[in-house]
Amino acid sequence: MDIFAHRGVSIHYPENTIAAFQAAADLPIAGIELDVHVTADREVVVIHDETIDRTSNGSGYVKDFTLQQLRKFDFGSWFSPQYENERIPTLGEVLELFAGTHHRINIELKTDVFAYEGIESLVLKEVATHQMIERVIISSFNHESLQTVAQIAPYIDIAPLFAEVLVDFTTYTALIPAKALHVHVSTAFRKSIRLALDEGAIVRVYTVNNKQDARRLQQLGVQAIFTDDPVQMLEALR
Ligand code: G3P
Ligand code: CA
Repeated sequence: MDIFAHRGVSIHYPENTIAAFQAAADLPIAGIELDVHVTADREVVVIHDETIDRTSNGSGYVKDFTLQQLRKFDFGSWFSPQYENERIPTLGEVLELFAGTHHRINIELKTDVFAYEGIESLVLKEVATHQMIERVIISSFNHESLQTVAQIAPYIDIAPLFAEVLVDFTTYTALIPAKALHVHVSTAFRKSIRLALDEGAIVRVYTVNNKQDARRLQQLGVQAIFTDDPVQMLEALR
């Protein structure tokens, strides 16, 4: 079962920063997960929330700042003073960091609250520029966003995120050309996961920080987990 570092190694480093991704790049794991939003000057930046309030020393919506304005904020001190120099990364910078590695990059389009007109094209352009088409998975809770991705780039791997009920995979893929489902660990029940796997789905489960859960999912045949603590999961699955 593959391990993806969720927002980087976010248990030990401030989430979605270069420090968290560098730590993941140094591990023998399959990949990383990150979240993207779009700035006022249409740069794709890596951050989980719509606002910078929780993970920086600033306040306000990402969409209302230019990249240059966002760069002035400290995205590390909220986690620990030793990371006060962490700045918000662009998607391009994170892709650059992984240029020489084998890791897969799961880009989650955070289009649930704001649509960010054209975010799908902006992200795909960055992915193509960095020659990462075969290593990227694009996921979202907003499945219309994924349909847009599939229309522009039918060759790229997409994965709908589900927070609650897991739908029948075959019925679902008649609507959206996905090979994979990303399922919340609290709804990763044996029966529905087995059904999805038997129908040929790739199932990845988020966010798994408990060793027992990881072992159970591995036994079920789940292909990957997202975890904040990849080192602990490597130990659990050894
Ligand atoms: O991609 C899986 C997971 O990251 C989705 O939830 O809120 O952690 O972005 P969230
Ligand atoms: Ca995410």
